[in-house]
Amino acid sequence: MTNNSNTFDFHTVIDRRNTASLKWDKYKDRDILPLWVADMDFKSPPAVLKALHDRIEHGVFGYSVAPEALVDITVSMLFEQYGWQVHPDWLIWLPGLVTGLNVTCRAVGNPGDDVITAIPVYPPFLSAPLHFQRNVVTVPLKYCDGKWIFDFQELEKAITPKTRLFMLCNPHNPVGRVFTRDELFQIATICEKHDLIVCSDEIHCGMILDSDKFHIPFAGLEKDIQNRTITLMAPSKTYNIAGLGCSFAVISNAQIRQRFVQALVGIVPRVNLLANTAALAAFSDTSQWLKQLLDCLRDNRDRVFSEVSKMKGFSLCHTEATYLSWIDARKSGLEDPTGFFENAGVGLSDGAEFGSPGFLRLNFGCPRSTLDEALRRMKLAVSNQQSIAR
Ligand SMILES: Cc1ncc(COP(=O)(O)O)c(C=O)c1O
Repeated sequence: MTNNSNTFDFHTVIDRRNTASLKWDKYKDRDILPLWVADMDFKSPPAVLKALHDRIEHGVFGYSVAPEALVDITVSMLFEQYGWQVHPDWLIWLPGLVTGLNVTCRAVGNPGDDVITAIPVYPPFLSAPLHFQRNVVTVPLKYCDGKWIFDFQELEKAITPKTRLFMLCNPHNPVGRVFTRDELFQIATICEKHDLIVCSDEIHCGMILDSDKFHIPFAGLEKDIQNRTITLMAPSKTYNIAGLGCSFAVISNAQIRQRFVQALVGIVPRVNLLANTAALAAFSDTSQWLKQLLDCLRDNRDRVFSEVSKMKGFSLCHTEATYLSWIDARKSGLEDPTGFFENAGVGLSDGAEFGSPGFLRLNFGCPRSTLDEALRRMKLAVSNQQSIAR
């Protein structure tokens, strides 16, 4: 907090070098601003920091279980925010959401089966099925009127008798869409027709930036849909506690839940004590922290949009949710856009990892001054490159 009037600080640059940070250590000793992996350069809410301090002060760090209060607050949060009534028994706590994606692929179907997803998509969607000898079938999202949308016809065409699982990312990383009820219903209709189980990764559901959009849990659409859905959620993105590792699956169907539990038993460790502590404090936080974070991210998103759209050869879509911009660099003439911007001092994610070479993902979850400096470097590099090309 900057002062005692409940204003939270999203401006101060916190030095994350030499703090065992995946994001910042990638470019150790190089002047490259890391705008790649999806964590933010902000402190977590004061309520989370206080809960962690108090727990550390206790001094005993034995095995942990999800506190009852965490289960209760999660169930109430899902009802209050999304009108989705879940039973506490449906929750399975996990030390990471990627764990949930992998366990799902292991639990659903058999080796040799097909898993279908739309690209671009968060890279573990493409790798998790392969870890369990499933085939990945991808269907490109299509760009229509400034928006990335599902191509329902192509999606249905890609389904084979071997397809068992559809993996959905909503809100979507990297294209930043918040899918509408109508879009979700169309997916549900296809999945019901072909008897597919759906894995819905909703880790970004707390980060809706557009005030006229709201998150709809896929499983909350209808009972029948809920019955075929594994929902994966976490407080980790919203409250910037990804490094602690706490997420959960919601599975109403007892058979699917049993298979999921069987697939993780003996391999996946319990959620650690500090993650449970942080998750409880995050979901219990009644301060204005999240509201102010979203204001800051909205501002950052608009800056990225305005600056990158002015760069010749680059374009981007409007980010409805997440702190990620998805940039089309295919008309830039650059063979390796990621390497080009690294040379200019900005570290972005390569679209190829998401199944879409020629694109870039920019993480704007950082103080404005860091973002402005990154955008300045990008702009300068693009204009220098253009004067050389001329
Ligand atoms: C869609 C999506 N799912 C899962 C994760 C990672 O989750 P975890 O760190 O809990 O494994 C991310 C992180 O960027 C993500 O964007």
